[in-house]
Amino acid sequence: MRDKIVILTGAGISAESGLGTFRDEGGLWTRYDLADVATPEGFARDPALVHGFYNARRANCLDARPNAAHAALARLEAALPAGRIALVTQNIDDLHERAGSRAVIHMHGELLRALCADCGHRWAAPREMRADDPCPSCGAAATRPDVVWFGEYPYHMDRIWQLLRVAGLFVSIGTSGSVYPAAAFVQDAARAGARTLELNLDPSDGVSDFDEARQGPAGELVPAWVDEVLGRARP
Ligand code: OAD
Repeated sequence: MRDKIVILTGAGISAESGLGTFRDEGGLWTRYDLADVATPEGFARDPALVHGFYNARRANCLDARPNAAHAALARLEAALPAGRIALVTQNIDDLHERAGSRAVIHMHGELLRALCADCGHRWAAPREMRADDPCPSCGAAATRPDVVWFGEYPYHMDRIWQLLRVAGLFVSIGTSGSVYPAAAFVQDAARAGARTLELNLDPSDGVSDFDEARQGPAGELVPAWVDEVLGRARP
């Protein structure tokens, strides 16, 4: 039986926690040039600018708290048999983990991790990071945030495509559907036979690809949807 639920989340799920989205009015990409702060070329040009951008986002993240939508997804995972839920996020915050979700797949990396651009070593990021912080493994002054930039390959893709192939239900929450490969997950899951559902404030760019779409704030839509799923799962 295809009973696996694969959930994809984006910046919209953290909006009610006070973390900015990217493309909404006043969003990060309306205030910053993506090419300057979210590409390897931008980092090579001005590492201090890029660290400043991610240090500010890390501070926001550490000051934020999970909201009702994060909590509902953790409740769903805890209530269902192990392995029934796979939670893939484009978000680099840790609000899913702090709400209690266990196996979170961060396809765009994590704000709270540092990466040595020289040797590939990863470690827990300090609150403030600088490019000349030495790598704890090789000593190189090549520290970068462990996040995926435009032009880089997202993390865990083989595992994610494997999950999409066996999903019975694919649910996309709080994402505009404008960045690939995540934007194509709905098509990948549907092609493999999954039902597809979008929960978003506004219809996303890919809304017509979904079997069903509901509009509203994640803090309301997600707990209501989780109640529905758990109601159905009860004998
Ligand atoms: P976007 O900013 O592109 O889209 C956020 C979506 O969330 C929009 O469709 C909003 O309508 C919706 N939204 C806003 N508030 C909401 C709320 N309270 N409840 C529900 N939905 C809400 O963010 P993402 O789709 O996550 O990548 O962006 C994808 C990727 O683009 C990010 O991971 C990041 C960015 O560039 C990289 O930096 C590599």
